[in-house]
Amino acid sequence: MPRTRIGGIGMYVPENVVKNDDLKQVMDTNDAWIQERTGIKERRFATRFEDTTATMGAEAAKIAMERAGITAADVDFIIFATLSPDYYFPGCGVLVQRILGMKEIGALDVRNQCSGFLYGISIADQFIKTGMYKNILLIGSETHSYALDFSTRGRNVSVIFGDGAGAVILQPTEKDNQGILSTHLHSDGNDAELLSMPNPGFHAGKFWDDKKPIQPDQPFGGMFITDDLLKKDDLYPNMDGPAVFKKAIVKFPEVIMEALNENGLKPSDIDMLIPHQANLRIAQYVQQLLQLKDHQVHNNIQKYGNTTAASVPIALCEAWEMGKIQEGNLVCLAAFGSGFTWGSALLRW
Ligand code: ACO
Repeated sequence: MPRTRIGGIGMYVPENVVKNDDLKQVMDTNDAWIQERTGIKERRFATRFEDTTATMGAEAAKIAMERAGITAADVDFIIFATLSPDYYFPGCGVLVQRILGMKEIGALDVRNQCSGFLYGISIADQFIKTGMYKNILLIGSETHSYALDFSTRGRNVSVIFGDGAGAVILQPTEKDNQGILSTHLHSDGNDAELLSMPNPGFHAGKFWDDKKPIQPDQPFGGMFITDDLLKKDDLYPNMDGPAVFKKAIVKFPEVIMEALNENGLKPSDIDMLIPHQANLRIAQYVQQLLQLKDHQVHNNIQKYGNTTAASVPIALCEAWEMGKIQEGNLVCLAAFGSGFTWGSALLRW
């Protein structure tokens, strides 16, 4: 059975750089608070109507395809990971199929937030290993900037996120020392609301308006989307930051060790760990716990903020472009996010 390798990688971020101090114009915040708590110095925000989640994904895909030595006509399946799609439906996969003028291939959107890219890579791995597809385009892309609460009330969340996209082409390889060794996926829905955006969704209003609980005898199964409800907080992401932090610092190392143990490897064997860029403090905590040296981990949240499903491919692409990843290197990808969902992938480059 062939293994799955990354044959090409690309990234795209909007030109518009938003520094921490720029956010002071719209909310009560400061550079010192943001850097100390998150490590973030600046992020990119799409300029309205120029970049969308799908168009940024398509730009990253063009670079990945070129580096893989293929054209859009060679791609036989699209997987698109995002929590900020251009439309509530249809998904962004079909929009990329249209933008890039691809054949009538399958297109699947993955809605697993920060671990969406990890779920995508695991799905692609199964299709490649079974021989069903030969060139899978996997994209992680987000446009957070259009749906954040930029008032002072939402500042603990809105200073963290940025826009951008990363893409890879996944292909079969017969080489012994190359490709995905294993992938590991997990979820725990008990704390689903701790990092969530309920609207649009059946429960819109329910979580945030206890005075109007959904009644089974109401029309449409009890769902009333009224102007009143649409104005409420649930149009923006809600996050219990400390709770997310506590869970992330347990699940990140756990899922990395799961991948290493399955392959009889140890943390010192990792040439490059690419953690989801949630927060620099989380990444540094994990690095310390696994006793990884600085050259074994790549972080770039300082420049791009947290780009959710795009963060792993953007960091992976940047590390590769900087020459930090060479053929044969052991690369570990890991993510944790809303759901909660988390996952890892271990591969030889
Ligand atoms: N600027 C200035 N002050 C702020 C800001 C801001 N942007 N945001 C909050 N504050 C203030 C609050 O008003 C509060 O002030 P008070 O003490 O006078 O009441 C104080 O700072 C602390 O506010 P908290 O909301 O408790 O902020 P906290 O210290 O928990 O830090 C943070 C928030 C950075 C999100 C932290 O909880 C954290 O690191 N969480 C980890 C989760 C995470 O990073 N999630 C990222 C996305 S999720 C993912 O990708 C998995």
